[in-house]
Amino acid sequence: MKEIRVFSPASIANLSCGYDILGVCLDKIGDEITVRKTTKKGISIKKITGHELSNDISLNVAGLAASALLKNVKVNCGFEIDIHKGIKPGSGIGSSAASSAGTVYAINKLIGEPLSDNQLIYFASKGEIASSGTIHSDNVSAVLMGGFTFVRNSSEKDFIKLDYPNDLVFSIIHPKIEIKTKDSRSIIKNQVSLNDMIQQSANLGALVHALNKKDYELIGRSLDDRIIEPVRSILIPKFSEIKSSSIEAGALGCGISGSGPSVFSLCRGMDQAKIVSKVMKKVYDKIKLDYEIHLSKVNDKGIKIIDFF
Ligand code: HSE
Repeated sequence: MKEIRVFSPASIANLSCGYDILGVCLDKIGDEITVRKTTKKGISIKKITGHELSNDISLNVAGLAASALLKNVKVNCGFEIDIHKGIKPGSGIGSSAASSAGTVYAINKLIGEPLSDNQLIYFASKGEIASSGTIHSDNVSAVLMGGFTFVRNSSEKDFIKLDYPNDLVFSIIHPKIEIKTKDSRSIIKNQVSLNDMIQQSANLGALVHALNKKDYELIGRSLDDRIIEPVRSILIPKFSEIKSSSIEAGALGCGISGSGPSVFSLCRGMDQAKIVSKVMKKVYDKIKLDYEIHLSKVNDKGIKIIDFF
């Protein structure tokens, strides 16, 4: 195999109670990554289309992730990367993760798949440094494993794919404002109260259990963030109105998607998600704020190969 083109999907991180440790993979929305082998060693980013980003490999998430991977495997060729951004950077649905995960996945295929999913997640999460200033594996684990994923410990490469019901649908609204992950991380407090820590851990444990048992009511009650949402929601126009009207319209729960500004509502079934998306739209129509809506089932497969030569 000399060249491979993959579709690398968007994802939602945190899911309210799992800051930096829970992720879910979305379908349809994503980046297209092409990687080809070159005789000249090293990595270069040849083309970026869709949205503007640096092609300097030390500043681009895909470049950083590919460099981390190549430090750990022996190869006698180089790699050229083309990125078509289908996900806007700074939207909160895992734009950087799609590019870094897609790149390491493609390189692994080109070199005969010596690396496991957990190793790929680890290298892809090194790319997140470019956008977040720090390593977090919630988005990249979801993209590389598909479905709902849980990060027990990034540096120990301990990532877990969760069981979940197959009729969940996300309704996601993306107000057309940009929030840089670095900025939205910088406002989070470094200390939490013991009471908040207890309730957040309880919510997280209950959510994992509820997904496994298909307990929809408990999924809804557990989508409750005591620590991050109260701080970050001030950056998102009409967040509390979107949340209350979505839940009133039948969503199981609603929260900030990753570092925002996108907001997700989790619903049971596509019909319910369509109803909820209408009430979400209404909130931004009222204040004439431009937005995009995505309806997405959970993508259990993650990255898909488009073609290869
Ligand atoms: N867990 C990360 C955050 C996701 O909330 O900052 C950002 O992509």
